[in-house]
Amino acid sequence: MVARFRIVGGARLHGEVQISGAKNSALKLMAAALLAPGISTIRNVPDIADVDIMAELLTRLGCTVVHGAGEVKITVPEKLSHRAEYDLVRRMRASINVLGPLVARMKAAEVALPGGDAIGSRGLDFHIKGLEALGAQIHNEHGYVIATAPTGLSGAEIVLDFPSVGATENIMTAAVLAKGVTTIDNAAREPDIVDLGEFLIAMGAKIEGLGSPKITITGVKELSPTTHETIPDRIVAGTWAFAAAMTQGDITIRGANASHLEVPLEKLASAGAVVTTTTDGIRVHMENRPQAIDIATLPYPGFPTDLQPMVITLNAIAVGDAIVTENVFEGRFMFVNELIRLGAQINIDGHHAAIRGILRLSAAPVVATDIRAGAGLVLAGLVSDGITFVDDAFHVDRGYPNFAEQLQALGADVTRVE
Ligand code: EPZ
Repeated sequence: MVARFRIVGGARLHGEVQISGAKNSALKLMAAALLAPGISTIRNVPDIADVDIMAELLTRLGCTVVHGAGEVKITVPEKLSHRAEYDLVRRMRASINVLGPLVARMKAAEVALPGGDAIGSRGLDFHIKGLEALGAQIHNEHGYVIATAPTGLSGAEIVLDFPSVGATENIMTAAVLAKGVTTIDNAAREPDIVDLGEFLIAMGAKIEGLGSPKITITGVKELSPTTHETIPDRIVAGTWAFAAAMTQGDITIRGANASHLEVPLEKLASAGAVVTTTTDGIRVHMENRPQAIDIATLPYPGFPTDLQPMVITLNAIAVGDAIVTENVFEGRFMFVNELIRLGAQINIDGHHAAIRGILRLSAAPVVATDIRAGAGLVLAGLVSDGITFVDDAFHVDRGYPNFAEQLQALGADVTRVE
């Protein structure tokens, strides 16, 4: 049965939420566990569908995966199979993160091409060029990327055209077992990259420059399994921060790391929110209607594209006009048409959205197109008059554990209906 969210508009969210581990870190850590035979344990893993998909993928590659109570234990055999099938890759793009580890360890990988999705075309060219520079031979066949490296990988100097998160990860997880030194210039600097790098270092990898635009990796012969705790989910934390501001509420976001959210929190302060960093998190408190804020999404440490739907929704009910520029994913304004169904005044011109704030939106049935768009639309329902339904709730489930329950605990009338 397909689920939807039912949102009664009007609540001012107040109370506390607890942030769990970052989806976009935990999935990559799980894939990287393939690099070392033995048992690796990943803690603080969120309770979301994507973790189950990655567990299924690792199981099909020959691992035994035990998942429960925020922990994933992965037993990795000496010999892995090396094919990631389309039925899993199409459901979760992060599946392509097995490419680097499989080429490095098994000298071969066959990974289904993920295709496009609702946020844009999302190429793989940087991943492929990077692995080719390390000596892999790669071609596409019947919808799969086929990579081989019969004599192993060797270090190389790699310059990325764009600081792609996924490409940086695939190159890093291949280079750790290559002969010699690899440098990645214009590397992604996201906290997820640092988390993955620290996991690899704990496994015995030699990596310098994590969090900077130049990462240097000195290959080692083998890695050992380890235990690692996933960093908190900065996008979920940021979503709650925007939710507090747009509903004129007061939320304490426990477990959040404010240093991962500097730009979004500064922007919220300029919208009029009182943002306080507490010993174990962040408190966002808003008394008045927010002021409009201009934003341009950029790779980290810039404003995250994953919070762009939240900032557009905030601007839709803010005082004044705003321009939001999307620089990372070409298709990420798709959900704006749904927001317009709720009465938002938004004009799109290429990768710019011009938003004129109005007092309240007007409830209507809408459809979630991806995880973040879905979360943004649920929040839009809270600032709408009447009852909003957001269809295709499964998108939201992929990134936000127990979203409806958490909203209820903050005083909102939000339910999931099957
Ligand atoms: C990761 O996607 C995240 N996904 C995304 O989160 C996030 O929005 C994105 O990074 C940016 O922060 C996961 O971690 C699973 P990229 P990724 O490679 O790695 C282009 C969410 O909602 N590009 O940095 O796919 C690409 O098309 C998701 O949780 C190429 O052209 O992002 C895009 O325009 C959605 N060729 C830009 O670069 C390539 O080879 C950034 O992509 C690779 C990327």
